Amino acid sequence: MARAVGRAATYEAPPNIALVKYWGVRDRERVLPYNSSVSVTLERLRSRTTVRFDAELREDRVELNGAVASGGPREGVVRFLDRVRALAGVTDGAEVRSRNNFPTASGLASSASGFAALAGASTAALGLSLSGRELSRLARFGSGSASRSVFGGFVEWRAGVRPDGSDCYARPLYGPDHWPALVDLVAIVRGAPVKEVRSKDAMQATVATSPVYRRRLAELPGRIRRIRAAIGARDARRLFPLVMEECDSFREVCETTRPSLDYLTTTSRAILGEVRALNREAGRPVAAYTHDAGAHVHVFTLVRDAGRVRRRLSRLPGVERTEMLRPGPGGHLVR
Ligand code: DP6
Repeated sequence: MARAVGRAATYEAPPNIALVKYWGVRDRERVLPYNSSVSVTLERLRSRTTVRFDAELREDRVELNGAVASGGPREGVVRFLDRVRALAGVTDGAEVRSRNNFPTASGLASSASGFAALAGASTAALGLSLSGRELSRLARFGSGSASRSVFGGFVEWRAGVRPDGSDCYARPLYGPDHWPALVDLVAIVRGAPVKEVRSKDAMQATVATSPVYRRRLAELPGRIRRIRAAIGARDARRLFPLVMEECDSFREVCETTRPSLDYLTTTSRAILGEVRALNREAGRPVAAYTHDAGAHVHVFTLVRDAGRVRRRLSRLPGVERTEMLRPGPGGHLVR
């Protein structure tokens, strides 16, 4: 197997925001989700990760945002590297340096960009040349949502049906330039609590205890079809209500989990209310809210309405600022 020991490789990957949420796995070991998910890859933000393997290294050295990592975050990286080492048939230790160009505490899905970047850099450093599909398959073992950050634009992570997971991977639906008028206003909420339980654990509590989880799963294939069609047609009037319906369904299964999962603050809820009010006043869907397992809210709108929507969000007490982001390119090797 081609292998360049000691060669450093650097890979950059962006975060993504799910329009259809991944929440629950049917096979924990293989990270096989119950449902397919759909996301938008975000421009400008990225994790940049450099990996170098070295037979002299007894232990992996992991530096995240300039600080030596320890505990859970380090463990996650080491476990992921073990998988990559097994794939390449090596046992060398690794030196990993990863940096986000956005604050990790901002809650902007750094595990998706981080593990996509780690997948790209670590495989390249061992001379493995993986296709986008293979990289997405590998990245999900670090963080499920990372499978989608390999690609740009609008992306679907297919759940697949095979027990071995061979049909479970992400694929691009439409490129980053498909819908230039669509923007994501990320409302950063002041005092957003730091997530204590990783989503991959929280979602299994939902599977085990939410009485409405099965109903959600039954609704999803139809909703995904409609969301894909609305994106394909660049039809905001159809897409926006569906995005909010999906977000409400995700929030419902979280809230009905025992113990209940509540990721929102009063400010987050005020943002959801403001988007509903905007749509009511306009008599048409001007914007759509969605959020992940965190307090910040992503508000999709069209460029022509962005100024107005942004002013309304900025006026809400507790909104620190809004970032305007467009769909962007996927992960790539830097050197
Ligand atoms: C709500 O696979 O990102 O964002 O790495 O443990 O945080 P952790 O889990 P991850 O779960 C993502 C859950 C979600 C929905 C989504 O992005 O599809």
